[in-house]
Amino acid sequence: MHHKASAVNPDAHVAWTMLAVVVLSAACRQAPTATPKTNPTTATTRATLVELGDFRADLTPEMVVRAAQGKALFNKKFTAAEGLGPHFNFASCGSCHDQPTSGGHSDMAHQARLTFIDGDVDGLPQQTLPGFNPLQPVPGAPVSMHRPPALFGLGLVEAIDDTYLREHCGVDKHLGIAGIANFNLGQNRVSRFGLKAHTATIRDFVGNALNLEMGLTNPVERDSRHFRDGDAVPDPEVPTSTVDLLADYVGALAPPPAPPTDPAAERLFADVGCATCHRPQTAVGVQAYSDFCLHDLGSGFDNKMNDFRATGSHWRTPALWGLRFRNKYFHDDRTGDLRTAIAVHRGEAAQVSQRFAALPTAQQEVLLQWLRQL
Ligand code: HEC
Ligand code: HEC
Repeated sequence: MHHKASAVNPDAHVAWTMLAVVVLSAACRQAPTATPKTNPTTATTRATLVELGDFRADLTPEMVVRAAQGKALFNKKFTAAEGLGPHFNFASCGSCHDQPTSGGHSDMAHQARLTFIDGDVDGLPQQTLPGFNPLQPVPGAPVSMHRPPALFGLGLVEAIDDTYLREHCGVDKHLGIAGIANFNLGQNRVSRFGLKAHTATIRDFVGNALNLEMGLTNPVERDSRHFRDGDAVPDPEVPTSTVDLLADYVGALAPPPAPPTDPAAERLFADVGCATCHRPQTAVGVQAYSDFCLHDLGSGFDNKMNDFRATGSHWRTPALWGLRFRNKYFHDDRTGDLRTAIAVHRGEAAQVSQRFAALPTAQQEVLLQWLRQL
């Protein structure tokens, strides 16, 4: 089936309405506290938002308070006395998620390095407290550079129902595209966070980031091999409430404000086949331009690291909302040129990339101009 976004298809309308119900109930089910996360009477629309980094419009007043507390923790620089290290990348979440504002992406200098140990993807933190030995990559193990993605709109991504992802990843064979949904074996949901969609929930991601990026052990990561981190501060170094507040902040971030609509460019985007993976609307209000499935982009993208169902060359389709705030593309920031970015799509995206190359230059320009303001 070739998915085409169509406003006039009555079946599609019914499907979206049903999805809205499913999405809301999913959001309620997974709320970690008794506080209702959303107010169902006010739908989030990207058009009503003022600025990048704002909270969603549909939060309850209690959630706004928690999100603000979480934001302060997100930008707080932790000290060694509070548990930072002994191995860490930076002292705050905000060090890597601050472009162009809190919750955003990062520049090259702040990329995280990963390696592969005992068949598992593992962090390779770059800083070490005095008196400890720096971590070295295991000889022969691959090392992969990963840029920190922006976190805007992730609360809406978390609310996308598993059934939707299960049904859409792997079904659409149009133009040689299939895709797969990833499952993290320790978690019960279809995973969708991380560059290889290796984690199911924001909270689990945050627990992991505290531990691996900052060396802050916490109860959510109790099973991690890094839980006992060997410094003088007793483990866990931060309580569950810190993880929860950070997760509430990330989940509260509104998606990037929507650009003006451009039906001609959007039609081209769909006709060429980009929209098969960069799905304009994943669920009601989630205009992320992603299907959140894994796709094999070919050997040029192989980082030699499997992550659950993902092979080395599988990557989660990145959301294109907020593309206008970025000047480097792909998991490793390999290019800052949009034409090049499209040209190097291979594997499952090879046919689509060729179809773009075959367009008349004027149409290519329409598409590129539109992408630059997404
Ligand atoms: C050293 C830089 C660095 C620091 C510090 C850091 N992150 Fe990240 N963050 C990354 C990278 C790199 C990724 C992508 C990792 C991957 O998927 O393998 C990421 C991904 C994420 C994601 C998933 C995004 C998505 O689109 O699925 C979340 C959520 C997140 N970080 C939250 C946090 C929080 C909360 C903190 C603080 C506890 C934090 N990060 C600290 C670099 C960092
Ligand atoms: C088979 C699925 C697929 C198709 C078709 C596809 N893409 Fe992608 N696209 C991806 C994946 C996966 C990545 C991320 C790869 C990585 O991070 O290394 C990506 C990355 C991108 C990026 C960089 C985004 C970022 O945040 O770094 C842009 C821009 C992009 N694609 C645009 C397009 C356009 C335009 C088309 C149509 C000509 C297209 N893509 C077709 C899967 C696809």
